Amino acid sequence: MDEASRDRLERLRSRIASGELGAAAFRRALLDVPWLERDAWLDRLLELGPPPDDGPELPRGCVPYLPCAVDGVLSAVDLAGVSGSDVLVDVGAGVGRTAALVQLLTGATVVSVEIQSQLAQAARQLQQRLSLPRFSVVEGDAAELVASLGGTIFFLYCPFGQDRLQALLDQLEPAAHARELRICAVDLPVPPRRWLTLISPPGRGCAVFRSTAVPHALANGQSGGA
Ligand SMILES: C[S@@+](CC[C@H](N)C(=O)[O-])C[C@H]1O[C@@H](n2cnc3c(N)ncnc32)[C@H](O)[C@@H]1O
Repeated sequence: MDEASRDRLERLRSRIASGELGAAAFRRALLDVPWLERDAWLDRLLELGPPPDDGPELPRGCVPYLPCAVDGVLSAVDLAGVSGSDVLVDVGAGVGRTAALVQLLTGATVVSVEIQSQLAQAARQLQQRLSLPRFSVVEGDAAELVASLGGTIFFLYCPFGQDRLQALLDQLEPAAHARELRICAVDLPVPPRRWLTLISPPGRGCAVFRSTAVPHALANGQSGGA
């Protein structure tokens, strides 16, 4: 990287850390980068090295850390209409890269849930390095914790297999009857639920679902007859 690019990144980093960089300005800076270079650019901006090795805490059926591509996150943010009033939960957040990107792009409050302690620790360090506001890190199994986090949007980039995904949807269902939730699933098939409606164009890498208020009995498949 040449000196001018390094200086530009340094200036951007200090505007982030001082809270001066708004979401629109960050988006412009990101979109100015040719799309093939955006992932490397973001890693340099966030000062992220190669992904750390996965540890022994990763249970069977859970997927190791692999960051979601910047353009996948951009699609999710745009298709789901993430805004500054949302609370986005990154389910299986790794080092917090996607959570940081979503916050910089939208101003949303973000929660990184991660089962591997060294990755959760790296996410806390990222938050501190950039003084990101409204960025929290929760360590544990997202399939068990997810309902307690107050999220409005749940981002899933292949964190685990279908068994845990079913458990996560079961956890979220009561909240979905009380308030509107959105689920962004990147490269992850989501099993059908009566309370979830696909709102993004079908056949894309990123699918966005919105919850609809379905009476509890109907959502559980009961006929509710006389
Ligand atoms: C494919 S990576 C996704 C990383 C991140 N969401 C992103 O977009 O860059 C999957 C991550 O989920 C974490 N993970 C897997 N199972 C989990 C679980 N049950 N609860 C919380 N995190 C989990 C893994 O440790 C890994 O960091």
